[in-house]
Amino acid sequence: MRVFKEKDYAAMCRRAANLMAAQVTVKPKSVLGLATGSTPLGMYELLGQWCAAGDVDFSNAISINLDEYKGLRPDNDQSYRYFMETNLFKHINIAPENTHVPDGTRDDAKAECARYDALIEELGPIDLQLLGLGHNGHIGFNEPGDVFVRDTHRVDLSQSTIDANQRFFASEADVPRQAYTMGIGAIMRAKHVLLIASGAAKADIIQQAFFGPITPHVPASILQLHRNMTLVGDEEALSKI
Ligand code: GLP
Repeated sequence: MRVFKEKDYAAMCRRAANLMAAQVTVKPKSVLGLATGSTPLGMYELLGQWCAAGDVDFSNAISINLDEYKGLRPDNDQSYRYFMETNLFKHINIAPENTHVPDGTRDDAKAECARYDALIEELGPIDLQLLGLGHNGHIGFNEPGDVFVRDTHRVDLSQSTIDANQRFFASEADVPRQAYTMGIGAIMRAKHVLLIASGAAKADIIQQAFFGPITPHVPASILQLHRNMTLVGDEEALSKI
């Protein structure tokens, strides 16, 4: 595992944006696995600026997002499709038809998960998979449990995830209880995994995920087995490793 310990959030974003820009520069038709959450926001902003300046080109890139809330429409401002459009896609020159997010409006979970896995199979393997880290060790919405789930699946969000994400919604009751998420299999098949983390609140879970036992109770711990894993964090998040 490669570790970049950066002095603060801005430096972390710069490092991560550089790694993604390098990926599409070296391989313009890269398949990028993308993540939501507050951690990638600064990185996405930089990529938008660099794209506008002509320094990075996403015109041939393909994106596959990790997850989506079940039941939210793409135009709901809390949906992950909306997040990606607002915070990244509209600021870079990626072709809209090359951006993929699970469809939260599809009620038939089996059909939607099968569709998403077929898409990943057709377009993948993912060249660079960006990941944030949940406070409970989740990646995408792969929540702690007794097993690692390989394929795209519908998850019941844990109470700690609902609590953590409540800040984006009007009230706790508005937070969706379920989501679709890419499974651990597609993440582990990515050629390169880039996990980003910021802030003291992530220090304990970073330590457990990368230096504790490999267990589905800390889903990110499986990344210890990935052969091309890069961790980029600020000093606070990496203070315990
Ligand atoms: C969400 C997302 C994850 C994200 C995580 C951390 O629940 N599904 O993909 O990595 O939370 O979010 P944040 O970056 O805001 O800490």
